[in-house]
Amino acid sequence: MTAPLLAVNGLTKHYRIGERRVLALRGIDLSVARNEVVAVVGESGSGKSTLGHLVVGMESPTSGSIMLDGQELPPRRSRAQRRRLQLVQQNPLSALNPRRTVYQSVVLPLRIHRVEPRSRQRSRVAELLTTVGLAEDIMDRHPQVLSGGQRQRVALARAIAGGPDALVLDEPTSALDVSVQALVLELLVELQRRLALSYLFITHDLSVVRVVAQRVIVLYRGLVIESGPTDAVFATPLHRFTQMLISALPVVSRAEQRLTNRPGPGTGRWALAARFQQLAARFVHAVLTRSTLAPRSSRLSPQCVPTTRRAATIPGHERDPSCHERQRTRRHRRRRHLYRSGLFRYRPNHWPANHPHG
Ligand SMILES: Nc1ncnc2c1ncn2[C@@H]1O[C@H](COP(=O)(O)OP(=O)(O)OP(=O)(O)O)[C@@H](O)[C@H]1O
Ligand SMILES: [Mg+2]
Repeated sequence: MTAPLLAVNGLTKHYRIGERRVLALRGIDLSVARNEVVAVVGESGSGKSTLGHLVVGMESPTSGSIMLDGQELPPRRSRAQRRRLQLVQQNPLSALNPRRTVYQSVVLPLRIHRVEPRSRQRSRVAELLTTVGLAEDIMDRHPQVLSGGQRQRVALARAIAGGPDALVLDEPTSALDVSVQALVLELLVELQRRLALSYLFITHDLSVVRVVAQRVIVLYRGLVIESGPTDAVFATPLHRFTQMLISALPVVSRAEQRLTNRPGPGTGRWALAARFQQLAARFVHAVLTRSTLAPRSSRLSPQCVPTTRRAATIPGHERDPSCHERQRTRRHRRRRHLYRSGLFRYRPNHWPANHPHG
């Protein structure tokens, strides 16, 4: 069996912020075959960009390995190894050097990787710009004067200039205007087919995944919680987080319709489950601290038990009236502030009728 183009095994990345350790990735395994598009989806902070940065060698992993064509990539990669994996970032304005013209940005990889003799570089840049749907006369402009879509096309031209095998696309369309997103997405699909590229397509948008990817990997807090062929994951998502992502999508097929009809968070069974979780957490807390029941809020004094019928049956707890008084005063102060700033339309009912703000 031939090795996949890109394979990631047990990849972890920890960041240190002072005393605190952030576990950005916690043992990721994935593979991308030649000519394949694999999407990585997940909520914000799940470690998608970190994964992309590690794959292209911008950062080094805490542990784990990244293999290219069956060979492990060292922490310091050779020029040839860097050429084969390129990154396209979310925001092209910050990815492109504002002091360089479009020509200077796109010609740089040609010079670094020595893929074209000096005499042919200008015509090659023009060719690359045409490939990504830009006119040649854009060459001498700076990125600041281009539109968002044009900038992302320039970033793409730069990424494919060295002739890479795979692109890591880190949310390539999410910083763009909605009207331009579809065009850039179309270009990406066309480029992948025409140049036989592999993509590791990072996004938080499942509707994009449906269009571009053959396989999908779902990240959640630095872990792969689900992976498989796109159709299978869309038809029968196994993890609750994936189900929530899919149920937030506009409906296109019957299978997805059935999924979207499921009760979402905050309604029916979900609300009940969430309430049960809260109660269970309070119960565990009560057992661990050997108190009868954990207070609902740290603002309440430990003696102050909510005046529900169930709480009244708990032995050893007295209601602390002064605590409730303090809570009420705080609530009133907050409402008065909101009322005055126009955010709360009801006049606080404890205000006297002749109140100056009434
Ligand atoms: N250089 C860094 N130093 C410290 N922590 C970092 C660093 N880079 C990322 N992190 C942390 O690692 C975690 C993953 O971040 P990452 O940028 O990979 O998330 P993401 O999935 O790309 O999110 P988004 O969708 O918002 O781009 C976050 O908790 C983030 O704060
Ligand atoms: Mg990111």
